[in-house]
Amino acid sequence: MDFENKVYIVTGSCSGMGRSCCMKLLEAHACVVGIDLNEGTIENDCYTHFIADVLDEKKIEECVEATVARYGHIDGLVNAAGVFGNNKPFYELSTEEWNRVLSINTTGTFTVAKAVAKEMIANKKGKIVNISCIRSTIFKQNMADYAASKGAVTSMTSAMALDLAPYNIQVNSVAPGFIYTGMTKASFDNPEVRAQSEALIPNGRLGMPEDISSVVLFLLSDLSDYVTGSMLFADGGYHLQK
Ligand SMILES: NC(=O)c1ccc[n+]([C@@H]2O[C@H](COP(=O)([O-])OP(=O)(O)OC[C@H]3O[C@@H](n4cnc5c(N)ncnc54)[C@H](O)[C@@H]3O)[C@@H](O)[C@H]2O)c1
Repeated sequence: MDFENKVYIVTGSCSGMGRSCCMKLLEAHACVVGIDLNEGTIENDCYTHFIADVLDEKKIEECVEATVARYGHIDGLVNAAGVFGNNKPFYELSTEEWNRVLSINTTGTFTVAKAVAKEMIANKKGKIVNISCIRSTIFKQNMADYAASKGAVTSMTSAMALDLAPYNIQVNSVAPGFIYTGMTKASFDNPEVRAQSEALIPNGRLGMPEDISSVVLFLLSDLSDYVTGSMLFADGGYHLQK
């Protein structure tokens, strides 16, 4: 996979899968622009960090403009910024709680993809990878907000793929399973929860951020030029049992 001198925007770049995507791309000699609510912690001459909320449309447009001003073009986008749900049955969720999860996970993905797509359309080339979740299609109690947000990411990915296919831009999503990241650390650090979760995974272990970033890099690379609108499970086989 050739990433030398290519340019990628990664949201959620401060933690977990987003950070791992940044590190893998930098190791492959790409230029990476990270966007996160938090301050950047990656030190590399080829890394630029912007503190921004994926819901702040104006700021996101400025980040994209700054990326193009610096590098001239954008080869790919990884939408990894996201939050977990409120962990309640849907009938106990306030509209505010519901909207927060839907906004960040779904509208945030739309907002960044929209800003980047305009650049890619002009170049007639590009890759967009949206991080969805196994919970977009396999459900559990107390997950209506999160499942709705990720179901929308999956279906939106396919619809975006159709809109962008005429411009040689491929849009795919990855559906991770149980991954040990900042989002899940607190629960997986509990040995009982970890053992219960690992018992559900055919591969027998939790995923690590690198298990996901390697799939993302495949979808960003030329190797996947004929793949668009797909959701790729990266869950150690969890979805096979549904
Ligand atoms: N960890 C899992 O088991 C798992 C499984 C399936 C899917 N996912 C999804 O993978 C993606 C990455 O999650 P992770 O596990 O690496 O989480 P994480 O919490 O480790 O990282 C998420 C990053 O997104 C950033 N972020 C959150 N809201 C933001 C906003 N409004 N604007 C900009 N940045 C924002 C956070 O600051 C953080 O750095 C998320 O979309 C998550 O829903 C996670």
